[in-house]
Amino acid sequence: MKVAVFRKAHFNAAHRLHVEGWSDEQNREEFGKCNNPHYHGHNYAMDIKVVGEVDPITGYVIDMKYLKDIIKEKVEDKLDHKNLNIEVPEFKTVNPSCENICILIHTILQEALGKKYEVTVRLYETPRNYCEYPAS
Ligand code: NI
Repeated sequence: MKVAVFRKAHFNAAHRLHVEGWSDEQNREEFGKCNNPHYHGHNYAMDIKVVGEVDPITGYVIDMKYLKDIIKEKVEDKLDHKNLNIEVPEFKTVNPSCENICILIHTILQEALGKKYEVTVRLYETPRNYCEYPAS
């Protein structure tokens, strides 16, 4: 029987959304405050959903302590209190938008947990703006 379990986590990070080939005006128009040349921060919140078979012996889909530790080591330690554009290699040439950060977190966690689990990541850039990958 497959069940979904969820773990909440968060990190704080700075970013700037900007397209190299565009004029300053075009960048400001598209990205607004997120185009601030001096960067700005967000308190990102994540809902990590993990779907898997319930183990008949433990009764667990996944040990939540293990999930918590994986999120901490692979995601929070990589992104927390970082300038995403400068300090996270994946965003050297890719805009660190909510969507792209969400895809990165998904890639990291799906890889870490393996194929027996289906991972979905919902990432809140603000309490009202959030995205989810994979899209259902
Ligand atoms: Ni922003």
